[in-house]
Amino acid sequence: MKALVYLGPGKNALEERPRPDITASTDAIVKITKTTICGTDLHILKGDVPTCQPGRILGHEGVGIIERVGPAVTTFKPGDRVLISCISACGKCVYCRKLMYSHCTTGGWILGNSIDGCQAEFVRIPYAETSLYRVPDGADEEALVMLSDILPTGFECGVLDGKVAPGSTVAIVGSGPIGLAALLTAQLYSPAEIIMIDLDDNRLEVARKFGATQTVNSADGKAADRVMAMTGKRGVDTAIEAVGIPATFELCGEIVAPGGTIANIGVHGKKVDLHLESLWDRNISITTRLVDTVTIPMLFKTVGSHRIDPKLLITHRFKLDHILDAYDTFSAAAKTKALKVIIEA
Ligand SMILES: NC(=O)c1ccc[n+]([C@@H]2O[C@H](COP(=O)([O-])OP(=O)(O)OC[C@H]3O[C@@H](n4cnc5c(N)ncnc54)[C@H](O)[C@@H]3O)[C@@H](O)[C@H]2O)c1
Ligand SMILES: [Zn+2]
Ligand SMILES: [Zn+2]
Repeated sequence: MKALVYLGPGKNALEERPRPDITASTDAIVKITKTTICGTDLHILKGDVPTCQPGRILGHEGVGIIERVGPAVTTFKPGDRVLISCISACGKCVYCRKLMYSHCTTGGWILGNSIDGCQAEFVRIPYAETSLYRVPDGADEEALVMLSDILPTGFECGVLDGKVAPGSTVAIVGSGPIGLAALLTAQLYSPAEIIMIDLDDNRLEVARKFGATQTVNSADGKAADRVMAMTGKRGVDTAIEAVGIPATFELCGEIVAPGGTIANIGVHGKKVDLHLESLWDRNISITTRLVDTVTIPMLFKTVGSHRIDPKLLITHRFKLDHILDAYDTFSAAAKTKALKVIIEA
C-alpha cells in the first residue's frame, strides 16, 4: 500500500509499505477513504516530537471502512463506515474510566506518533471498540474528518474547559484550524462577544465569516489594550490560548476579567511565565488539557443537525498520490490560505 512516511527532521516521502496486520484481538484494520494533515504533523517534521521515530507512517485523523476486526471486536464488522479518533483508548484503565482517554495508560495519542498512522491506504487501529465511532448514515465524510481531532480539541480544551456561557465575552488567541474550531463550537453556548486575535488578516477575515463579533490583528503588540477597550476595561470571561507560544499565553493573562478562565489549548515547547504578581487577586482559573475526544458522539449530532458546519474549515483537496503537494500547501498556509486539506486515499 502507499503511505506517507516520516524519515527524520525535514524529510518525508510517499512509500510503498506492507498492509498492516491484526496484532491484538482488540484491533481493527481500516481502509482509509479520507484523511488530513494536522499542525502537529508539521511539529513532527521539525523534529519536535521525539516519540515519533523515522520510519513512522504519519496521520491521526480520518474516516474509512472496516476491512477486518480482531476476535474481541464485536461492535464493528467489515464494511462498517467509521471515524478514527486521534486518541486511542483501551476503555479499561484508570484514566479511561474517568473519560480521560488522552491519558490512557496503553493508548492516548499514539496514532501517527509511536504507532503507524492513517496517511495511508490502510491503518491498524488498536482498541477498535473505544477508538472508532460509527459514521451515521448519510453523513458527509469530509465534514467528519474534522471530528477526529480539531473540533473536539477546540471544544473540549477551549470551550468546555473555558466555561463559555450565554451572554459571556470570549477571546480566542490564534485563528488557525484549532482556534476556528473553538470559534465554531463556542457559538453552541451563545456568548455575547467572541473576539478573535491573530497576526494573519486572511485568517481574521475567515473568523468573521465563522461568527467572530470582533477581530484584532496583534502584530503591533497592542492587542491587550484593544481588547480592554472593546470590553469596557473589564477584559474577557474566557481567554482561549490556541497558538502555543509564551507571548499568546501571557496575552491571555492580560485580558482575562476578574472571575474569568484562561483555557490553554496550545502545545508549548518553551518555558512560559505565569504572572501571578498581577493575577493572584483576580479570582481566575487556568486550565490545560490534552484532547480526550469524549465529545465526538455529541459533535456528530450537532454536525448532523447542521448546528455547526466543520466543512467550512476545508480549503484544499488532494489525492493520496499527491500528498507531498498537500504538505507543501498546508505548511505554506500564510501564502496558500490553507486551513484544512482533505486527502483522498
Ligand atoms: N491540547 C491539545 O490537545 C491540542 C490538540 C491539537 C493541537 N493543539 C495545539 O493547538 C495549537 C493551534 O493549532 P493549529 O493547528 O490551529 O495551529 P496553526 O499554527 O495553524 O495556527 C496558529 C495560529 O496562531 C497565529 N499566531 C502565531 N503567532 C501569534 C501571535 N504572536 N499572536 C497571535 N496569533 C499568532 C498564526 O497566525 C496561526 O493562525 C498548536 O499549538 C497545536 O499544537 C493542541
Ligand atoms: Zn492533530
Ligand atoms: Zn485506557
